[in-house]
Amino acid sequence: MFFSRKVITESDLVDLHGKVALVTGGNTGIGYATIEFLAQKGAKVYMASRSKEKAQKAIEEIEAELQKSSGEGENKGSVHWVKLELSDPRSVKEAATEFLAKEERLDILGNVGHLSKSQLLSIHFCRSEQRLSLNEDGLLDVMVVNYISHFVLTETLLPLLTRTASLEDSDVRIVNLSSVSHTLMKPDSFVGKDSINKQYGDSISGHLHTYENTKLANILHLKHLQTRLNAESAGITCLVVHPGAVMTVGVTGFFQSIPFVGWFLKTFLAPLFLVSWKQGAMTSAFAAAGKEITASRKSTDEAERKKYEGAYLTPIANISEPSTYAKDERLQRELYETTMEVLREIGIVS
Ligand SMILES: NC(=O)c1ccc[n+]([C@@H]2O[C@H](COP(=O)([O-])OP(=O)(O)OC[C@H]3O[C@@H](n4cnc5c(N)ncnc54)[C@H](OP(=O)(O)O)[C@@H]3O)[C@@H](O)[C@H]2O)c1
Repeated sequence: MFFSRKVITESDLVDLHGKVALVTGGNTGIGYATIEFLAQKGAKVYMASRSKEKAQKAIEEIEAELQKSSGEGENKGSVHWVKLELSDPRSVKEAATEFLAKEERLDILGNVGHLSKSQLLSIHFCRSEQRLSLNEDGLLDVMVVNYISHFVLTETLLPLLTRTASLEDSDVRIVNLSSVSHTLMKPDSFVGKDSINKQYGDSISGHLHTYENTKLANILHLKHLQTRLNAESAGITCLVVHPGAVMTVGVTGFFQSIPFVGWFLKTFLAPLFLVSWKQGAMTSAFAAAGKEITASRKSTDEAERKKYEGAYLTPIANISEPSTYAKDERLQRELYETTMEVLREIGIVS
C-alpha cells in the first residue's frame, strides 16, 4: 500500500445481505460501531453481550440509525441479542452450542468484548496490595474475559465457520481485537497454567502489563488458528486489529479511575487525542468485510492472495507488523497447547 487511508466508509465494504455475523462486546464502543457498519451492509448481526437491558437499548439505537439511512425500498440488516458472559467459559461454550443449533451459517466472528484497563485500574485503586482475582477454576479473570472465553467461542463455532467457508461465494473472517500495547510484553514462554495466570505486580504498570499480556494472547491465538486453518485448506481469513485510541467507556473510565487528576484528564485531555467509536471501528469493519480483502483472496498471485491471512491491522486498515513475540510460532503453539490443557482440566474440551 502506497498511501495511508483517512477513512473507511460503507462503500469500502462488501454487500452482506444473506450473511450472518456475531460480535462480542457489541453493546458499546468499538463493538457497537462495528455492528452498525455490518448491519448497514445488510448482515444479520448477533450482538453477543451479557446484559439484556444494555443490548436492547443499543439495538434500538442501531435500528434507528439503519432506518434513518435507508433509501426507499432498501433493506438494511438486522441486529439480535445473544447472551454471552465472557467471565464464564462454560456459559460461553453453552451459548456457542445454542448458536450452532440456531443458525445455518456464520460468516463473520468478531471477538471484541474485554475487561478494560479501567476495570483493572479500579481494582488497583480500590483494593491496593491485592492481586487480581483468580476465578473458581484458578484462572485469572482478565485472561478469561479477554482471551480464554474468546478462544472457547471461536473453537466451538469453528465447525459452522468452516461449513460456511465451503459454500459458494463465501468469505469467512475471524477478527480479534488486540492492542498496540501488546508490544510491551516479552514473555519467555507460554508453557503451563502459570504462564497465562502470570501477574506483573500490584502497581499500576503491573496491572496494565497483565492486560497487555491478554492482548498479546489475542494475536498469538489468531496467528496459530490461521496456520491450523490453512493446513486444512479451510479458506477462512483470520485478522487481528489494533483500533487506535478510541473514546470508549473503557478508555474514558481508565482516565477517570486515576485519583485526583482523573476528571481533568477525561474531560480535557482525552478528547484531544481519542477518536470517535465510528472511526475506531473502521479498521475492525474493514477486517470483517473490507472489499479489498475479498479481492485479494481471489488474486491469482499467491503473495497477494495470502496478504491478509493472519494479518495485524492498525488504523486505518493498514497491514502492520506486530511484535516479534506475537509472530513467534513457538509462543503461538505453546499458548494453544496450554489453553487446551487448561480447558481439558476444567472439562470444557475432552
Ligand atoms: N478503546 C481503545 O482505545 C482501544 C485501544 C486498543 C485496543 N482496544 C480493544 O478494542 C476492544 C474494544 O474496546 P472498547 O474500548 O470498545 O471496549 P469498551 O467500551 O470498554 O467495551 C467493552 C465491552 O466488553 C463487554 N464486556 C466486558 N466484560 C464482559 C463480560 N464479562 N462478559 C461479556 N461482555 C463483557 C462490555 O459489556 P458491558 O457493557 O456489559 O460491560 C462492553 O460491551 C477491546 O478488545 C480492547 O482491548 C481498544
